[in-house]
Amino acid sequence: MKISKINRYLLFAGLALFLIFGHARADGNTLNVFPERIVLNLTQTPYNSQAVTWRTQKMGTSPRAQIIRVSEFSSLESTPKIFSARTSAVDLDKKTTVYHHSVVFNSLEPNVLYAYRVGDDQHFSEWNQFITASEKLKSFTFLYFGDIQNQIQSMCSRVFRTAFQKQPDAGFWLFAGDMVDNGDDDKEWKEFFNAMGWIPRTIPLMLLPGNHEYPDRRFIPLEDYKISKLWRPHFTLPENGPKDLEETVFSFEYQGVCFVMLNGNELIEKQAKWLEKILSKNRQHWVIVSIHQPVYSISKRRNRTDFQKFFVPVFDRFSVDLVLQGHDHAYSRTFPLRNNQRVPDKEKGTVYVISIAGPKFYPISSRYDHLMAKTGSREPLFQSIRVDADTLHYTSYNIMKQVYDSFEIHK
Ligand SMILES: [Fe+2]
Ligand SMILES: [Fe+2]
Repeated sequence: MKISKINRYLLFAGLALFLIFGHARADGNTLNVFPERIVLNLTQTPYNSQAVTWRTQKMGTSPRAQIIRVSEFSSLESTPKIFSARTSAVDLDKKTTVYHHSVVFNSLEPNVLYAYRVGDDQHFSEWNQFITASEKLKSFTFLYFGDIQNQIQSMCSRVFRTAFQKQPDAGFWLFAGDMVDNGDDDKEWKEFFNAMGWIPRTIPLMLLPGNHEYPDRRFIPLEDYKISKLWRPHFTLPENGPKDLEETVFSFEYQGVCFVMLNGNELIEKQAKWLEKILSKNRQHWVIVSIHQPVYSISKRRNRTDFQKFFVPVFDRFSVDLVLQGHDHAYSRTFPLRNNQRVPDKEKGTVYVISIAGPKFYPISSRYDHLMAKTGSREPLFQSIRVDADTLHYTSYNIMKQVYDSFEIHK
């Protein structure tokens, strides 16, 4: 049979459409059943346990995770340990329900490389690996990021990739809040995980909520002012914070450092009392605190004098070394401070940093210029912080891997 030119064109067009849409549907089905948004979070004791959380779009049978030492992975005698998951169903928009699963691997050994995967009776993720922390003080590096928040996938992916290239062996990544613009918008969290790729499957994330992981308090009744319903399902963070603030306020220890993550959105006095208790029991060599809203804001419209009243006396009393913040969409670093003043040279004080990783920038106020060692930035940054026994080395990089700021704190 002879095929005319037009018929031949229609045949090719039909075949092309079939391939495109047929393929897309198959991809869609695949996405529906495989684990996605897999993320490691540190526990309070990262030398003997490790949390992992993931999501599925359908509820599978027996959601679980498997784990094995990498050194035993190919041995026929060893089989992976199985941990059953805790699952919570989350209603996204009254039409779509998704399932978040979490496991805390416990009884792990310090400083050991483990392989793990997550899934259910039908579908497992790929095998990933992570290394547990050391039990004692040991030199390590972690990365710290200010607000991501806007154009998360299109603009922030390269920040994450550059950060990973610069520091592939970071112990974990710390986020000081505002990872998204609208904490209840699942599409923005999708962008966050897309921008990160497989990085959080191998490097744990430690995050605290910014004001954008809460609703805008100007437009809602006080009783509705609560952390986004998507926060706790997505992450498995320590639950040792004050009551009602679990997984948004917490502390953890990592190789000689006590980290304290605070929530600048609510119950500040309650957190200050809790912080005092945590720091009075601390046996770690260094103390690093993180909070989203800055204690010494460089934004014209903001000034958290309540933080200066409630948190600063506790930071001073327990000699907090460093405070990592976000929110102001710019960069600043104070001199060492005590009692809201610059300390005389060589005396001990707390250094407060504000940084920004996303593409939105605010103008800077001169209100606290007398406290500032550096202010500026209209460019995305990430920070690499190496903690040794006697020195903390801090370096802020831009997207070209150029040093934007650096300093050291000596014990
Ligand atoms: Fe922000
Ligand atoms: Fe903010």
